[in-house]
Amino acid sequence: MALLKQIQQRYSVRSYQKRPVEKEKLETILQAARLAPSAKNMQEWRFIVVQDADTRRKLCVAANNQAFVGEAPVIIVCCSVISDYVMRCGHLAYPIDVAIAMEHMALQAVEEGLGTCWVGSFYEEQVKTILGIPTPVRVVELLTMGYPADTLRAKSRLPLEQIVCHERWKL
Ligand SMILES: Cc1cc2nc3c(=O)[nH]c(=O)nc-3n(C[C@H](O)[C@H](O)[C@H](O)COP(=O)(O)O)c2cc1C
Repeated sequence: MALLKQIQQRYSVRSYQKRPVEKEKLETILQAARLAPSAKNMQEWRFIVVQDADTRRKLCVAANNQAFVGEAPVIIVCCSVISDYVMRCGHLAYPIDVAIAMEHMALQAVEEGLGTCWVGSFYEEQVKTILGIPTPVRVVELLTMGYPADTLRAKSRLPLEQIVCHERWKL
């Protein structure tokens, strides 16, 4: 499938089938994360793959009780073991690095016939307690994953003219 088509077909899946995700598909998706670029090639991302129903229920509570978080057969908890590296541009590297790896997973999931949803509405300390994550490690985002029980919605996006200019700032 052409990449742009996969990008168009990715949407935030907030309703999942009970059907489990095959081990091989999960492995391929995690490989897509492993191959992501990162600042200084630090690869500071770490991923906890949660499939246990009781743990998923607890994560659902930590994620502001968003029901689909407990419903998804897989939750990938995306963490960083380095959270203080600031690039010359002044930005912290770790949220960017982890985000790239996450979107690699989200797009590979489309290729595998699966859906995902980024989850940023969660209480980090609660997630850390549930999963025994050490204090210095940051939990950046959760990514729910599974076979969709809903369907692709029309995308609401700004037109290119509103977000792109050429050569100089004209926006
Ligand atoms: C960093 C980030 C955090 C997000 N957190 C949540 C969340 O906690 N709950 C949720 O339902 N959707 C969440 N989303 C999904 C966005 O709402 C969604 O991507 C956006 O509305 C565009 O819709 P689409 O993904 O279907 O194209 C998040 C997305 C991103 C990128």
